[in-house]
Amino acid sequence: MFRYLTAGESHGPALVGILDGLPSHVKLDVERINETLLRRQGGYGRGARMKIERDEVEFLAGIRGGETLGSPIAVLVRNRDYERNRELMDPLTGTGPPLTNPRPGHADYAGALKYRQRDLRNVLERASARETAMRVCLGAICAQLLENLGITTRSYVSQIGPVVAPELDEWNQCDVEKSDVRCPHESSARAMIAAIDEAKAAGDTLGGRFIVRVDGVPVGIGSNRQPNQRLDGILAGALMGVQTVKAVEVGLGGEVAGRPGSQAHDVFQLEKSAGAVVRPSNRAGGIEGGMSNGEPIVLRVSVKPIPTLMKALKSVNLHERTDAPASIVRSDVCVVPAGAIVGEAMVRLALTGPVLEKYGGDSLQETLANLHRSNAAAKALF
Ligand SMILES: Cc1cc2nc3c(=O)[nH]c(=O)nc-3n(C[C@H](O)[C@H](O)[C@H](O)COP(=O)(O)O)c2cc1C
Repeated sequence: MFRYLTAGESHGPALVGILDGLPSHVKLDVERINETLLRRQGGYGRGARMKIERDEVEFLAGIRGGETLGSPIAVLVRNRDYERNRELMDPLTGTGPPLTNPRPGHADYAGALKYRQRDLRNVLERASARETAMRVCLGAICAQLLENLGITTRSYVSQIGPVVAPELDEWNQCDVEKSDVRCPHESSARAMIAAIDEAKAAGDTLGGRFIVRVDGVPVGIGSNRQPNQRLDGILAGALMGVQTVKAVEVGLGGEVAGRPGSQAHDVFQLEKSAGAVVRPSNRAGGIEGGMSNGEPIVLRVSVKPIPTLMKALKSVNLHERTDAPASIVRSDVCVVPAGAIVGEAMVRLALTGPVLEKYGGDSLQETLANLHRSNAAAKALF
């Protein structure tokens, strides 16, 4: 069984993660993992914290000579900000003035009541999306397994605040990586940057949308057997597990509700020369009946504006029971580009389980042999 866990507070000593169930003999390129961590830290609209942290993975277990051993993988990413917060966050002696004014839209209030915490810091330290650095790290490890099976994941930003870029079926990933807002459509990207500047000047924040696309997913990942095995549910659940994500759509998503059936599905046809079965459209976004159908998986993810505003929202001081502005913790203005990198990671993590469930294998060689056998059997069926 493939599974993962993360732990770590935002300003604590480190983030840690465990990946269990990856096959042996997956070669890991550490530089690529660190590059992915850096991509999460980038993006126009991020705050000062990102200039302090420079995330780097350290391997603690499960890897030898640059290859997975098949044993549980344990990794660590240090919080460089910890040194400046040691007094506040030391696991044994940490103490400081309590945070008392919950931020509307954050975990502060619900978490304080749930965990009986009078200092909101004891809630927000884990609720903070700093934790996503570890998910990105674990996702970057899974990416290197999935690439061996021909499965690749990428993303771009299609909306920031009121600026909506044209939605693209295909795009050049280099244009995305060059863009400060991860949008390959140049004039939209410029307008997005201007919108972020405007929000920043007003002490406000912005949300938006990003698209995640997965290529090379073989037919039949996920299952229609039970509701919790459906691939659309698994991917949507994983993406909804990212802070600020409020909606996930597959293919046409919500738009399909208003279309007649004749405009909603992807017909089958025979390719003239080879006689292969092809789909001229991908409205389903690569998933039918809870299973991958061989087309690219396309997911549209909507993200709310982050809850810490420099022009603080109305709140209350829970200790003094007075009206008071929400606490301000150093914060970003717009995290949609970073959210897209976290989204890629979550999709990789969420796909790895069902992929390994279908092909199995204790070593990469065994997994690959099973994949090739399965592909050959599918080809021979009709
Ligand atoms: C990459 C990333 C960075 C974030 N940075 C901040 C931030 O600097 N300030 C903030 O208030 N919220 C930030 N958030 C959002 C909060 O973590 C999130 O809104 C909060 O945990 C409440 O969860 P919810 O939005 O899912 O309800 C960030 C989210 C992501 C994905």
